[in-house]
Amino acid sequence: MDRTAFDKQLASLRAHRAATPMNMREAFAADPDRFERFSALDGDLLLDWSKCAVDDRTMELLEGLAKATDLEGRRAAMFSGEHINITEDRAVLHTALRNLDGKGLTVDGQDVQKDVRSVLDAMSAFADAIRSGKATGHTGKKITDIVNIGIGGSDLGPVMATLALAPYHDGPRTHYVSNIDGAHMHDTLKGLSAETTLFIVASKTFTTVETMTNAETARRWVEAKLGKEAVGKHFAAVSTALDLVAKFGIEKDRVFGFWDWVGGRYSVWGAIGLPVMIAVGPANFRAFLAGAHEMDEHFRSAPLNKNLPALLGLIGFWHRVVCGYPARAVIPYDQRLSRLPAYLQQLDMESNGKSVMLDSSKAVTPTGPLVWGEPGTNGQHAFFQLLHQGTDIIPVEFIAAAVGHEPDLKHHHDLLLANVVAQSEALMKGRTLEEARTQMLAKGMKPEQVDRIAPHRVFSGNRPSLTILYRKLDPRTFGRLIAIYEHRVFVEGTLYDINSFDQWGVELGKELATSLLPVVEGKENAAKRDASTAGLIGHIHRLNE
Ligand code: F6P
Repeated sequence: MDRTAFDKQLASLRAHRAATPMNMREAFAADPDRFERFSALDGDLLLDWSKCAVDDRTMELLEGLAKATDLEGRRAAMFSGEHINITEDRAVLHTALRNLDGKGLTVDGQDVQKDVRSVLDAMSAFADAIRSGKATGHTGKKITDIVNIGIGGSDLGPVMATLALAPYHDGPRTHYVSNIDGAHMHDTLKGLSAETTLFIVASKTFTTVETMTNAETARRWVEAKLGKEAVGKHFAAVSTALDLVAKFGIEKDRVFGFWDWVGGRYSVWGAIGLPVMIAVGPANFRAFLAGAHEMDEHFRSAPLNKNLPALLGLIGFWHRVVCGYPARAVIPYDQRLSRLPAYLQQLDMESNGKSVMLDSSKAVTPTGPLVWGEPGTNGQHAFFQLLHQGTDIIPVEFIAAAVGHEPDLKHHHDLLLANVVAQSEALMKGRTLEEARTQMLAKGMKPEQVDRIAPHRVFSGNRPSLTILYRKLDPRTFGRLIAIYEHRVFVEGTLYDINSFDQWGVELGKELATSLLPVVEGKENAAKRDASTAGLIGHIHRLNE
């Protein structure tokens, strides 16, 4: 990163914003080409950021910022397997998991592509055997239910993807248990028969306490129902820690590996995607990978002003750092993307929620925003009030498919689309006091009532949103969409000059939980803890008496 050039460019951006405050309603009225100028296409996939308060100069300065950070150089370093995860001394190569025809990528002596293909082939064979009934449970019955046991990146990606690809789901039912709360496992097992259930224990490290505790509970359940000898036919595992998997007792031909150059939150494309592959079949899973690979190629080759992930990242940086907005809402107008916001929370916040830069000094700009959301139209009836009239400005990212999967319910889809477009229009346009008054008077309200109520019906407008719109959420497009978001995180991380690929921030809580367990169990005294911690544990003990 050329810090001097970056600082200069950032100062120019700030000065430009201060000197040319934008009213988007006026900007649209003055420029009929605004949509053309601030939108970009990759095939059918459109990114429209014309409803963000930017102009040509803003985009020029943002591109200059990308150049100052050597975005292109860092991108090349990532794709070629350089150890860009500097705190863990690792390559970052989730892109290799979907580059199935790639050749010649060797990392630390490993032929990456050969290994990727061989795991994918093994997963496909296993998925086919489970789906066809060739591989049965211990008593010879066909597997009807898969329970994936994992958490964080070993859960959120597959859960989100299984739901997103529901129209293609023709394999066994798929369940996900992540929480250490016994209720999660209990409620999942309640409706299942051990004879027809396969557990996949998914953990990169195979040490995560939630996953290992849940896996042991599941193993005891199988043993109690079918006997110890049944375990082999009812468990599979996905991990980088093959020695620990072997210790757990899962049969070798049911273990699917990955590598330390795949970060947990970037891992759905490889063996962690096994439950998705069993649900939708290897062909659909490969189409999902192919879509992501297409987006990788786009990200690698498209010029900055047409490069969807880069543009999304630049706009994200603009909102976070230059405009100072601390959050962004991601609102898919697609019920099947209802877990996308949760998935993006880990992808984005675990990656870019950092305060230290690559050179170990304190971050000089704000870093990753709070990411949250819910599907539309449901969100409209919950928190959109605040988005429209609250005192904070929260940029919104709308996501929608032009075509639904249910042709016989086209009317529903038309309404869905009318809503998503209406929301972005309302955020941008708002409603002036004069407009509110005119509307109320036209409805026959008395002038004194209008005076009192009209201010409550004013919408400031000028609130930024962008829209991602594509034809249909098929596996290929879904792959493209997720890859856009992954690369966007990379772009923003590069602009913040941080390492987006470690996650030390989750360690402290884990360490303290381990040390508090004996205190909760009453084996150790809480007195040495701070007064609140001791007080809470004391109350837990009293309530358990
Ligand atoms: O929450 C921290 C974390 O390390 C995530 O990064 C990871 O996805 C998750 O825990 C699960 O880790 P594992 O796959 O090793 O069980």
